[in-house]
Amino acid sequence: MTDYQTIHVSEADGICTITLSRPDKLNALNQAMLGELSAAFDALAGGDSRVLIITGAGAKAFAAGADISEFSAIDSAAAGSQFAARGQAIFSKLAALNQVVIAAINGFALGGGCELALACDIRIAADSAMLGQPEINLGIIPGYGGSQRLTRLIGPGRAMLLLTTGDRIGASEAYALGLVDRVVPAASLMAEVGSLAARLAQQAPIALAQIKRAVVDGLGQPLDRALAVEAEAFGRAADSTDRREGAAAFLGKRQPTWQGK
Ligand code: COA
Repeated sequence: MTDYQTIHVSEADGICTITLSRPDKLNALNQAMLGELSAAFDALAGGDSRVLIITGAGAKAFAAGADISEFSAIDSAAAGSQFAARGQAIFSKLAALNQVVIAAINGFALGGGCELALACDIRIAADSAMLGQPEINLGIIPGYGGSQRLTRLIGPGRAMLLLTTGDRIGASEAYALGLVDRVVPAASLMAEVGSLAARLAQQAPIALAQIKRAVVDGLGQPLDRALAVEAEAFGRAADSTDRREGAAAFLGKRQPTWQGK
């Protein structure tokens, strides 16, 4: 396992967990952490894990944003665009993984931290979590996909409210907006996320990955093209030993045994 400095990566039973590990800085995403996340996503792309959990170290934060102490290096529009493009590319790599990615939002998910959660497939929040895109308070805008992914997820009006006010919202409001998918007591967050991940890791592997493909690749495409994405993904799942096993197990009134083939 690669020895990272700013993140911790563990893998067991088809589940990989990445923990953002700069708790003293509320897990702020500095350039070193982005580089390590990028390397970890590359490793996952070639690995056997079926589910990825991303969370933050400590009780206080998932990630409190991009590391503001590094902003002084942004000394031109071109440097700013480059800064954004690097983060976007890494978060897009995350969104494109075959694994179903669960954000376990254990505290502040602000700015880049909220954008990281937005690039995940499922967001489970502790009831103590606080989310928001406060970039406007720093005279900037989200640059790691927030203005686009938030808008697609919760709609333009609600996204505009969050983006233009920079307000932080609690987990229950985030749930009402559709920004998070489930809210659980803070003390049981990792147990809840772990049991969901374990359940998903037991599902038919090809179908699991193709569901992700269909949802992520189809999103934002016109319906006719999105349906073509679904048909292709269906084809990949249908052309599998597991598809035959699924039907045989149903008809034989037994549990299926998936092979991922
Ligand atoms: N970048 C760099 N450092 C950050 C950070 C960020 N985004 N967010 C928090 N930190 C650091 C603080 O500077 C502080 O470091 P220090 O102990 O060396 O002074 C440490 O993390 C703890 O943060 P602190 O502000 O003392 O905690 P708090 O409980 O008083 O406040 C927040 C928590 C999240 C409200 C506050 O840290 C905050 O507003 N952070 C910035 C959020 C933001 O604007 N994110 C978007 C960036 S584009």
